[in-house]
Amino acid sequence: MINLLTVIGARPQIIKAAAFSRAVASHNAARPEVPVLERILHTGQHYDENMSGVFFGELGIPQPDYSLGVGSGSHGEQTSGMIEGIEKVLTGKLADREGECHKDWDGVVLYGDTNSTLAGAVAASKLHIPVFHIEAGLRSFNMNMPEEVNRIVCDQLSTILFAPTQTAVDNLREEGFFDEKRGFRKVVNCGDIMYDNTLYFSGKVSENKDCDYVLATVHRQENTDDADRLRNIFAALAKVAESTKVVLPLHPRTAKVVEANGIDTSGLTIIPPASYLETLSLEKHAKLVLTDSGGVQKEAFFLERPCIILRNETEWVEIIRHGAGILAGASCGRIIEAYSELLGRKVQFPKLFGDGKAAEKILSIILNFLV
Ligand code: UD1
Ligand code: UDP
Repeated sequence: MINLLTVIGARPQIIKAAAFSRAVASHNAARPEVPVLERILHTGQHYDENMSGVFFGELGIPQPDYSLGVGSGSHGEQTSGMIEGIEKVLTGKLADREGECHKDWDGVVLYGDTNSTLAGAVAASKLHIPVFHIEAGLRSFNMNMPEEVNRIVCDQLSTILFAPTQTAVDNLREEGFFDEKRGFRKVVNCGDIMYDNTLYFSGKVSENKDCDYVLATVHRQENTDDADRLRNIFAALAKVAESTKVVLPLHPRTAKVVEANGIDTSGLTIIPPASYLETLSLEKHAKLVLTDSGGVQKEAFFLERPCIILRNETEWVEIIRHGAGILAGASCGRIIEAYSELLGRKVQFPKLFGDGKAAEKILSIILNFLV
């Protein structure tokens, strides 16, 4: 029996984990002689029903075996609470929901670049448990982003690095990950696991009769910690809303800053954080997407929607290179310019993010390594 611990915590990780759990279920049905037991640990980084609970039923993800309930806090408070909890699980000091403790872990599966990812990497690597990092090698080259710190540390501590793009592989090569002197590290371009989910679920989304709108999402620390940046973004969205409806599912982090600073949202169609299928539907039918989210900019590309990226840089540089997105930062003028430019542009959406079978490949590489 191969025992894997999957660590999730933030919304996008819960969604990504669905593809891996599906691959585990298919593997167990096809090859029962090499059974894989995946247990899921939810750190509790996201905890509102519409930021966490809703996805389990909707995407068919098994309920977490461990729920640390760490919740919100400063980076140090949140990450340290998670490291402590994950270590207890890995050393058999914290029971699963059936009251059983386990110590026989063969590997820990981590996604992306959140504080939950960092905590999983630190806890597992210090216990010499192999770390499998999905979405490895992405870089924004902006160390002010908490995600950049998390992904650099996690990559350094990983045993197998699953890069979603050739750019991510190249970033790791530049950082010396192919240097044999640094011990065993395997880097694989397996494609993007979010693409697996988009392909799997996009046929199941509701048809939206109203296609005359744009979709916007904003939540990044660099945009929300600076009220002036957020004010500029909302001013640009208000300007767009003068001609086209702007639908904005509001992240709780952003909601708090908007309220505390009295930012005007009156022209916008603000809705609570949407479920995954609702979001795919909103993306699929939008004229255009404006976002600072990593996941939403990729899903826009997968669903062939042009995208304005509300950041100064992106890890998903392929989208910009292919003219399907424009980096507009938080400048009201640049966002408006990008809006007119993209609406008039003939955009290409080549298949750049794998073949939609990333999770299957990842599991098979993990099994080859372990068995
Ligand atoms: C986190 C990730 C970010 C990812 C995002 C996905 C880090 C450092 N950041 O950012 O990379 O893009 O998740 O959405 O890990 N809150 C609630 N309810 C919740 C969750 C959060 O009200 O269920 C509020 C709290 O006020 C909290 C704030 O949102 O302090 C920020 O949450 P946190 O998880 O720290 O960071 P995110 O901005 O969500
Ligand atoms: N998403 C969602 N509801 C929303 C906004 C986003 O389900 O209201 C999904 C989206 O489809 C994508 C993922 O959440 O799969 C992206 O997560 P998020 O934007 O929170 O974080 P990031 O990708 O930037 O880390």
